[in-house]
Amino acid sequence: MFTLLLALATTPAHAGDSAATYTAVCASCHGPAGAGDGPVAAALTPKPASFADAAFWADKKDEDIAKAIKEGGAAVGKSPLMAPFGSSMTDEQIKEMVAYLKTLKKE
Ligand code: HEC
Repeated sequence: MFTLLLALATTPAHAGDSAATYTAVCASCHGPAGAGDGPVAAALTPKPASFADAAFWADKKDEDIAKAIKEGGAAVGKSPLMAPFGSSMTDEQIKEMVAYLKTLKKE
């Protein structure tokens, strides 16, 4: 499990392609469509955030989402199992990822 997390956390992001990065790096936990139901999610408590859930976005600011991705869940008071991706993604890539995550929201 730890090795898997480490491998996920150190996978380099592909510039300008948030969807591909999401599928490669985030989907194992957050689910292919962002519903928080990836294969690794079953082993996690608390569960990964569901980006499909409109309620998730209700009180979220872009800066908070970006901070969670860059500095990890613990930096925003969430689970430390949400790894920091600041070393494998640039600020620009993180910004693009925030925009991509919003496209996963279901009304
Ligand atoms: C090892 C599993 C795992 C992977 C891989 C992962 N996450 Fe997470 N993520 C989590 C967990 C667990 C939480 C925290 C849920 C909680 O504490 O409510 C979380 C929370 C989040 C949050 C929400 C923070 C908040 O304010 O509620 C965002 C945004 C996020 N992840 C984005 C990403 C992105 C983008 C990627 C890929 C670059 C990614 N995650 C990869 C497990 C993961």
